[in-house]
Amino acid sequence: MTPIRVLFQITIALLFSSSVVSAAEFKPLAGQTAVKVCADAHNLPYSNDKLEGFDNKIAAIIGEELGIPVEYYWFPQRIGFGRNTIKKVDPETGKFLCDVAMSIPAERGMYSPTTAYFSSIDAMVYRKGEGYELNEISDIAKVSKEGKKLKVGLFDRAIATNTLLKHGLADQIEYFQMMTGDAKVNSGRIISEALASGQIDVAFAWGPIAGYYASVSDVPMTVVPLNEIGSDYIFSFGMGVRHQDKAWQALLNKILDKRKDDVAAIVAQYNMPSLADVKQVVKKKRTVYTIENGKVDDKTYDGWRVFNTTCFVCHGKDAKGTERGANLVEAVTDMSEFRFRKKVLKKYFAKVNLDDPERRLAFLSQIAEEHAKGFEMPTWSDEPSVRAHISAIYAYLKARSDGALGEEKPERLAK
Ligand code: HEC
Repeated sequence: MTPIRVLFQITIALLFSSSVVSAAEFKPLAGQTAVKVCADAHNLPYSNDKLEGFDNKIAAIIGEELGIPVEYYWFPQRIGFGRNTIKKVDPETGKFLCDVAMSIPAERGMYSPTTAYFSSIDAMVYRKGEGYELNEISDIAKVSKEGKKLKVGLFDRAIATNTLLKHGLADQIEYFQMMTGDAKVNSGRIISEALASGQIDVAFAWGPIAGYYASVSDVPMTVVPLNEIGSDYIFSFGMGVRHQDKAWQALLNKILDKRKDDVAAIVAQYNMPSLADVKQVVKKKRTVYTIENGKVDDKTYDGWRVFNTTCFVCHGKDAKGTERGANLVEAVTDMSEFRFRKKVLKKYFAKVNLDDPERRLAFLSQIAEEHAKGFEMPTWSDEPSVRAHISAIYAYLKARSDGALGEEKPERLAK
């Protein structure tokens, strides 16, 4: 290459890099000189001190976008991790030891989470070439019945435990301890040691561990996601920051959003089991009433009945209120059952029994007078016909408020 061309290329490179800098969207926070990551030095596939984990590579992206170095504060990722890292102040500098924890659950708990960057599920791993195929947990029982008693390794409280016991495999299970005394030993050993050596024939482990340790083992292995346990067991993970660090959380989210394809490409290198065939569990919206073809369950019916013997006097047959009482169809829209109970059973102080028509009439005329003095609802806490049916009344009113039921007498579902 001629000197001119070299110079030309350097100029281009400089131009290019300076244009990148000036176009940079992200600036570190005030006073931030490094991305300080709290991580485990021996915890692949997440992180290690050779920076081989996906969390190490994702942290590098954050540093790259902010134009500052990434520094680590190492601590074993186990009980006390947060307390000893992100929440701990260095007595010498007066600053926190580190500012972001990686791969933490994507729900607010000890940390405020960023957008999740991976999701996974438990998986089953076994050695290839043993002459059997395992697609679900029950296949272990089938193979065992055919004469080959497979030894199963799992961590205490693994999701698969109950299913294994149900299939009568109790005496084939070997339980492993999640945490050993040695911080350098992690749960991957159930695959890299126990399964590879033949101590066990099938291992159950969390997806990222299963996928990674099976893929780096010299012994060929098959990883099967536990599709059968369903989408309720898919868990998502992101980064975590201290609750008060809202600007930092927002900044990380912006970077994760901009670089989401790169982040996904990094995670994809670690062979996490596919989530494509996980049984979809549709979380049923919990309703307090059941209505099928216009017919209601016993509880809702009971609610209708009690409402129409007692509450209607002031709240109206249609429950939409009278001059004596509030519109309850509207009131329960955003009222929890808990608050409803409290309002009906506790808040009010007058006490009446309106079952008897005569007393009801007498009471109503009394109300008419009381109304002028700012009448309040009677308390129903000592009234068994209300107290015992309070959640039924709530169910009925909720059905009315949701528009699932009209004001006419409902029909009951057949038993
Ligand atoms: C004697 C008249 C009377 C009867 C009978 C009565 N209420 Fe009330 N209720 C009131 C009045 C008046 C209010 C509104 C005043 C207040 O908040 O104290 C009220 C308020 C309520 C509220 C709160 C509404 C809101 O928006 O916060 C609920 C819930 C309620 N009643 C439920 C019931 C139920 C259930 C029954 C039957 C067990 C019943 N009431 C029977 C007079 C009555």
